Amino acid sequence: MTEFLTSLNLERAVALLKKGEIVAFPTETVYGLGASIFNEEAVRKVFLAKGRPGDNPLIAHIADRGDLAKIAIDLPSEAHLLMEAFFPGPLTLLLPSHSDVPLLVRAGLPTLAVRMPQHPLARELIRLTGTPLVGPSANLSGKPSPTSAQHVWRDLHGKIAAVLDGGICQVGIESTVLLLEKEPLILRPGFITKEQIESVLKRPVHLVSKQIKGESPLSPGMKYRHYAPNASLKLYFSQQELENDHSQFPSTKRLLLLHCTAHNLYHLLREADEQQYDEIFILCTPSMQNDPALMDRLTKAACLTK
Ligand code: TXA
Ligand code: MG
Repeated sequence: MTEFLTSLNLERAVALLKKGEIVAFPTETVYGLGASIFNEEAVRKVFLAKGRPGDNPLIAHIADRGDLAKIAIDLPSEAHLLMEAFFPGPLTLLLPSHSDVPLLVRAGLPTLAVRMPQHPLARELIRLTGTPLVGPSANLSGKPSPTSAQHVWRDLHGKIAAVLDGGICQVGIESTVLLLEKEPLILRPGFITKEQIESVLKRPVHLVSKQIKGESPLSPGMKYRHYAPNASLKLYFSQQELENDHSQFPSTKRLLLLHCTAHNLYHLLREADEQQYDEIFILCTPSMQNDPALMDRLTKAACLTK
């Protein structure tokens, strides 16, 4: 049985995590599926509950900068600048991992993804548990990420010990994942933009959210289909084309969206599944096309029509 907890039962969530159970928790981006990072058995349960491939590494969530020394070493000076600017917040940094972090967490990689969430309940949970928590998005692998405790419940009840309800996620889309190399690379665009990072680093940052054919992906997550609803999703870049297709192909059950935002995308996709739509047509307006994080999720979830 999965327990449904609120901030009033925070101690219960902490006790479960300390016992090696897995607990979903709110962050400002999306809900995460938490387990103590040093407890391999608990981390294994996270992969199992989500149905996540073992070669897709997890993000370590910390409460304070003091937690860093337990999980990362030899931090580049630019990492300090970025943490100063964006921690706590929706930025994930790939850092050289401490050898104490189980290989299972980072899928055998030398780097560890680290982020400090802004949601007060997440930070309090990590602080009271006394150890950083792994936190992949708390959805079944391949499904849209959860932006409410109810979304988590629908995907994972019966598979996890508890879900901690912290309301609707303010941002609604996952963190920006950044690799600090000779050239800083954004491996997953998110709420923190390329321009914001460039203004701190004072040098160009590149966006590589697509896997280059034939090369091994910089971020293992790139090679998997993501964020997909059950309905087939089609993207349109002009209202005329959308209307043509809509009138030409008689619909079984079709949802037409003439606009969406990074904040409400996952909610809309999940609602469409709840209502058992067969198809979703989304018009990508110019303002949507100016949001790289939103377009990244949409194109990964969709079959494109251009
Ligand atoms: O906003 C977020 O980041 C949410 C909340 C819960 O914090 N978490 C999240 O985790 O989105 P997840 O596991 O769903 O996505 C983590 C992404 C994956 O694409 C994974 O491949 C990549 O980060 N990643 C993790 N560790 C990595 C590493 N060492 N090197 C390259 N990519 C890594
Ligand atoms: Mg995810």
